[in-house]
Amino acid sequence: MNERQVSRRGLMIGAAATAAWAASPVRAMLAEAGGRALPAKVEALVAQMTVAEKAGQLTLMAATWAGGAATALNPAAGTSTFETQLGEVRAGSLGGVFNGNGATMARRMQGVAMREARLKIPLLFAADIIHGFRTVFPVPLAEAGSFDPELARRTARAAGAEAAASGIDWTFAPMVDIARDQRWGRGVEGAGEDVLLGRMMADARVRGFQGERGLAAPDAVASCAKHFAAYGAGEAGLDYNSVDISERTLRDVYFPPFQAALAAGAPTVMASFNEISGVPATANPWLLTQVLRREWGFGGLVVSDYTGDEELIAHGFAADAREATKLAFMAGVDMSMQSAFYRLHLPDLVANGEVPMARLDEAVRRVLALKVALGLFDDPFRRIDPRREKTRVRTKATLALAREAGAKSIVMLRNEGEILPLPRAGKRIALIGPFAQGKHDLIGPWNVYGTDAEAIDLATGVREAVADAGSVTVADGSGIDAPIAGGIDAAVAAARAADVVVLAIGESQAMSGEAQSRTDIVVPAAQMALAEAVIAVGKPVVVLLSTGRGLALSGGVLTAPAVLVTWFLGSEAGRSIADVLFGIVGPSARLPVSFPHATGQEPYHYGHKSTGRPNGPGPLAPYKAHYREYANDAAFPFGHGLTYGRIGYAGLDLGGGRLSAGSTLTVSATVTNSGTRAADEVVQLYVQDVTASITRPVRELKAFRRVTLKPGESRVVSFPIRRTDLLFVGGDLKPTVEPGRFRLWIAPSAQAEGVAGEFMLA
Ligand code: BGC
Repeated sequence: MNERQVSRRGLMIGAAATAAWAASPVRAMLAEAGGRALPAKVEALVAQMTVAEKAGQLTLMAATWAGGAATALNPAAGTSTFETQLGEVRAGSLGGVFNGNGATMARRMQGVAMREARLKIPLLFAADIIHGFRTVFPVPLAEAGSFDPELARRTARAAGAEAAASGIDWTFAPMVDIARDQRWGRGVEGAGEDVLLGRMMADARVRGFQGERGLAAPDAVASCAKHFAAYGAGEAGLDYNSVDISERTLRDVYFPPFQAALAAGAPTVMASFNEISGVPATANPWLLTQVLRREWGFGGLVVSDYTGDEELIAHGFAADAREATKLAFMAGVDMSMQSAFYRLHLPDLVANGEVPMARLDEAVRRVLALKVALGLFDDPFRRIDPRREKTRVRTKATLALAREAGAKSIVMLRNEGEILPLPRAGKRIALIGPFAQGKHDLIGPWNVYGTDAEAIDLATGVREAVADAGSVTVADGSGIDAPIAGGIDAAVAAARAADVVVLAIGESQAMSGEAQSRTDIVVPAAQMALAEAVIAVGKPVVVLLSTGRGLALSGGVLTAPAVLVTWFLGSEAGRSIADVLFGIVGPSARLPVSFPHATGQEPYHYGHKSTGRPNGPGPLAPYKAHYREYANDAAFPFGHGLTYGRIGYAGLDLGGGRLSAGSTLTVSATVTNSGTRAADEVVQLYVQDVTASITRPVRELKAFRRVTLKPGESRVVSFPIRRTDLLFVGGDLKPTVEPGRFRLWIAPSAQAEGVAGEFMLA
């Protein structure tokens, strides 16, 4: 039996985990940037440091190691040389580097810091470990679809341990931005559109990266909650774009995953690129000081995003580099990434009294406190070990975890006539599409250290799974954006000669990620032409969708008998997909983002408001809130995902239907698998606060439970509901809960009826 009450932990994040954070030694150390909790040795260092050395500690630069990850990602980062950078280490004008390469580089740099720099302050090595290191796990959006925070914790732990074995102390993850506009490319890095799921994944990932033995453990990496805040709410889904948003929505939707990450012990936060209602986040004292520090009591380190302070000039907020430095620093950004503005301008600003020395010391103490917490003052080389770097990556165990996580992230949208799972023998399979074979587009857009070349492609995975590898023919049929000569003819011939077609189409990994917004979230036209031609052959077709976002599907792809969302699944992608295709593992993931009917609905999310003219169920009615073409719902909603079982919901028990002060209402439903295969069903509890002083969403996810059901098995699945589960941000911008009527659904998705009823809050 695999049954876990995942809701409790999520619901307790606000309370118990805040208490845990308050009690954590890292917090105590960081909160006391005033000095008392820092070891005397560190305090003595601060007393000895020159202003230039202090500004150096607040400077983080891309590593310039030749051929290193940082320069591969952004050639502009490599304008300096490694020798120049070593000189900066020697001079004490660098606090750390990011996206470098491995233990050899780290050992050389740390060696210079410890032997040749005046104060011998260890460097910090940071990196973007977003979904794996050398073992690559599914993109975070896919993994959120597992609705399995424990899985996310395990993959983050494995990624953290691998990165730490290669000299990395600090990851720029988790990305916890709520993403409700599928045009935005960076939704792929986060947990999707829902606040509860976002909180739970943030909590799990932070605990995973940091491990259970404290940040000083040699296999722990410090996490960084990013991008603070509302980066996912950019106008029109355009990356980096302005955000004009109410404080209520910030507090209700965008802040909670950050609070969860901090409660789980994240010691650092990254300011986001966007402006918020006229003030860039990087220079926003309300956000970075009033909310983050005063209200939430965060004592850790705030780092800018890549040249975030420099960008204040382009925003039209700072006149020049000096002013940008002052505005970012005084708003609360302690460490500057990549512009070098802090080391260039802070000394002068301090000399002229425009930046108080106390503020400089506070920021320096936070950097030093992080280095203390990571154990770097005890042993600056604790994560730098070329032998561990070789032996502790891509192990049997991490690759098995990647395969498991991949399979658990695949969402089955359709399975008409139960054509899936496919038999492993006796069928000729045509594997068609630009993602059918080849070492490309396997590991996802935001992986710095893994390579496609080390990953398992679909054709390999399928051939391994079937009894006779000769029964599989492969045809690309099309490029990703452009047709290939003769491609469709060859694909149609392959389809004709097969018993079943597996059509692997969708987005390349370059189509999502940073700066990859799309105006039309569709399968590219060249691939649609291929799909229609292949579907017209008339063989059973299974569509596999590579994607880093929710897509608007159309034509034969929308109505294909079987559709699986296969995202970008990482190192073992081909095997993970084959496991689900052939029923070695049943599909159990759910959509973490809604798939709309059309791009024009974006930003679309299930938890929208009702409006004064909701269309209601049934056909489109005149003068109601819908488009000319579609109802304002999803083609495939958040929470949707089928299994190889046949699942039914019945027997709602409202537990008396009344929730009074201080008590718990337990509601339940009977979930039955009348199919012939076992299934892992993610049972979801949604609530609607029918009337409130602030209008509430038509549905909000409040809890979910994963239940394994054998063929023919029925189970009663129950959920406790407490007053605190019904809190929302009230008129005074404080959490509140109001008596009255609540609707509830225990259902298989945000749009499914499941079983529904009402209760009263006294
Ligand atoms: C991204 C961050 C990332 C940083 C460092 C920026 O462009 O927005 O998410 O951590 O680069 O690579």
